[in-house]
Amino acid sequence: MRKPLVVGNWKMNGDKALTESLCVGIASRSNRLRNIDIVLCPPFPFLYLADACLKKSTVSLGAQDLDANTNGPFTGQVSASMLNGHNCKYVIVGHSERRVNNAETDQLVSRKTQIALEHHLIPILCIGETTEQRKAGQTEQTVIHQLQNVIDHTGIGAFNDIVIAYEPIWAIGTNITATPDQAQEIHSLIREQLRQQDKKIANDCRIIYGGSMKPENARELIAQTDIDGGLVGGASLNSDDFFLICQAALSD
Ligand code: 13P
Repeated sequence: MRKPLVVGNWKMNGDKALTESLCVGIASRSNRLRNIDIVLCPPFPFLYLADACLKKSTVSLGAQDLDANTNGPFTGQVSASMLNGHNCKYVIVGHSERRVNNAETDQLVSRKTQIALEHHLIPILCIGETTEQRKAGQTEQTVIHQLQNVIDHTGIGAFNDIVIAYEPIWAIGTNITATPDQAQEIHSLIREQLRQQDKKIANDCRIIYGGSMKPENARELIAQTDIDGGLVGGASLNSDDFFLICQAALSD
């Protein structure tokens, strides 16, 4: 059985006060959510504070990105070992906003995934298609290409320690959530791609959905056979909404 996982990606939002209230708001109720894994990914400057607020809870800390290098002259970048130093357990890699806004290629995403693994961080590998790709009937090939690029770099065995997030770009921040059937279809395709390379990994690997997940639609999405949780943007900035999404995952 795959343990459900719900991840809050705050993106470039919040301040110290919000960090404290969101972390405390979830951590204080986390004893009611023991059968799922919960991760909060604040912006880098708030990792220290978030770590302190989450200390006595079962909620884990994650980062939104990392550099592909270990250290050196990379102004403004943050390394895997720095994330280790803040007790991060997870790190998001290849989010579509970084692929688009920061021109991150499949090769860079693969290298980031590898460096995260080498530092015992669990990569949350984001893949997903644009509206244009979906309209052109290219969803499957896009998603499989993004996934296979990382598999070819890390080896399939690494997927024992990787979480995959399917995030259709047209659903991110748009309130146009993929229907449970649409999401399940692609999750099942992703799992099949893993299965062709390793049956056990395919069975065990968690594949979570992201894109306008809300308390109202989370239950039905996570109830799908191949959807193991959510990567939540906007709704993770409200602790009550995020808690409701976690509860929806719990009852799966
Ligand atoms: P929204 O939940 O705001 O659509 O964002 C999804 C996302 O990009 C999470 O990484």
